This record gives sequence, structure tokens and C-alpha cells, in this order.
Amino acid sequence: MIQPTYLYYEEIDSTNNECKRRIADGTASDGLVISAGTQTAGRGRSGHGWTSRPGTSIATSMVFFPKGIGADVIPRVTLLASMAVAEAVEQCSGLSCAIKWPNDVLLDSRKICGILTEMEAERNTPKWVVVGIGVNVHEKNFASDIRDKATSIDLALSRQAEREKTAPLRVHCQEITEQIWKSFAAFYDRFEKAGDLSGVLDNYNARLINIGKTVRVLDPLGAYEGLSGGIDREGRLLVEREDGSVQKVDSGEVSVRGLYGYV
Ligand code: BTN
Repeated sequence: MIQPTYLYYEEIDSTNNECKRRIADGTASDGLVISAGTQTAGRGRSGHGWTSRPGTSIATSMVFFPKGIGADVIPRVTLLASMAVAEAVEQCSGLSCAIKWPNDVLLDSRKICGILTEMEAERNTPKWVVVGIGVNVHEKNFASDIRDKATSIDLALSRQAEREKTAPLRVHCQEITEQIWKSFAAFYDRFEKAGDLSGVLDNYNARLINIGKTVRVLDPLGAYEGLSGGIDREGRLLVEREDGSVQKVDSGEVSVRGLYGYV
């Protein structure tokens, strides 16, 4: 099983970049975790940036060197990371997290985290993988364009405290970070042994917010609606169309929208 070892920077360009520099110079061990208080050039998916104010969020990345699994299945590691974030946030805050397929972790139906998985492979053999995770922890204000889609652990705790008329719990980035990687190592171990997601399916599907709901699949070949089931062992979302046929939706090809609001 991966044994995480931790390094912390007050400020860095990007924790994913630092992992990759250490892989390149040979100083990255299996399970090395780089975390930072703030990133000056945080990176998101599809070449987007990832910004957060200093001290408000988790920025953490892990290096590992896969054994015995193909590069083609590595994208599924992002689903494992979303499960690890959900589990860690629940353990450290007592809040319940849901997952919007494929890897959005939600509190109060809003997104709290972003995950960027990078790898280098030769043919179908992965040489290294870096999983980078950003979690909104203490952020209280979001830009108006994402306010109805994003939230933080503190905001969700405040809402809960208001409802229950109690004082909000205080959570700590370091504790959550260590719990994320502990959970991730356990999920990854099951994934590596099985070669697919069969060992974590029940856990993932139990958190899936889309399940049993009508979703709109934005397929480039033509959008359609259907009833969402869970995921299969390849991480594909099973969507039943009106004619009874079941589509296996791949996250690389399409995106799925709930019909009402963000989820
Ligand atoms: C997304 O676009 O949703 C993915 C965002 C991933 C951000 C994290 S923060 C820690 C790690 N370092 C980076 O530069 N990016 C990832």
C-alpha cells in the first residue's frame, strides 16, 4: 500500500509542478505528498488556472509509481481521489458529502474541490502519476459567476450550525489533507489489485448524487436524457434511455447535467 510522506511549503507555484520537478530530478519517492499554503500558479483541468486566497484552502499533490496497471485505466484514479476527499471531509467535519459524476465532491449540492491527475506513460505503461487536489476549506466568498456552484467546508458548517443553533466546528487543513491521502491509499490499493473499480463501486455509488435522477447527457453526437444509475467497474455512468436501452457514458466524451440546477 502507498505510504504517504509529507512536505509542506508556505508558497509554491503549483504542488503538481513541484511533484513533477522532483520526479524529474529523482527525489520523488512513491507516496510523496507536496502541500502548500498558497499557490502562485495553481493549475486546473483543460489548461485553466486554479486560484485560491492564501490560507483558505488545501492544495496538495501526491506522486506514485503504478505497478501492474495500464495507463488506459489511470484516469479512473480521479474518481478514487473524489471518494477520498468525500470520506476525509466527512471524518473531519461530520458533514455528508455527495459526488456528482465523475468527480465533483459536493456539500449542500455545491462543489468543494478540484482534482487534476497527470501522468507520463510509455505505450500503455504508466511511468508516474501525480494526483493534485484543491479543497475549499475556509473560503467565505466566491466570485458571482461560481457562487451558486461552489462552496467551502466552513460555509457548509456555518449553515449546519445555523440550522442546529450550535457553534460551527473548526476544521484544519493538515488533518483533512492527511486523511485524504490515507483514504486514497486504501482505495488505490483495492483498485490496483482488481485492475478496475469493482472493489470501490458500492462506496462510490452510495455517494452518487445523480443516481435515480433524470440527467441530460451532452454527447457531441446528440444530447439525450435518461435515468441515471450508478457507475460500472470502468467508471462509466449507466444511463437508461426512454426506449429501455442502457448507455455507458464515458467521462472523457460527454458531460452530464442534472435537469434542475447544478446537480
Ligand atoms: C479542476 O480544474 O477542477 C482541477 C483543479 C486542481 C487544483 C489542484 S490544487 C493542488 C494541485 N496543484 C495544482 O496546480 N492543481 C491541483
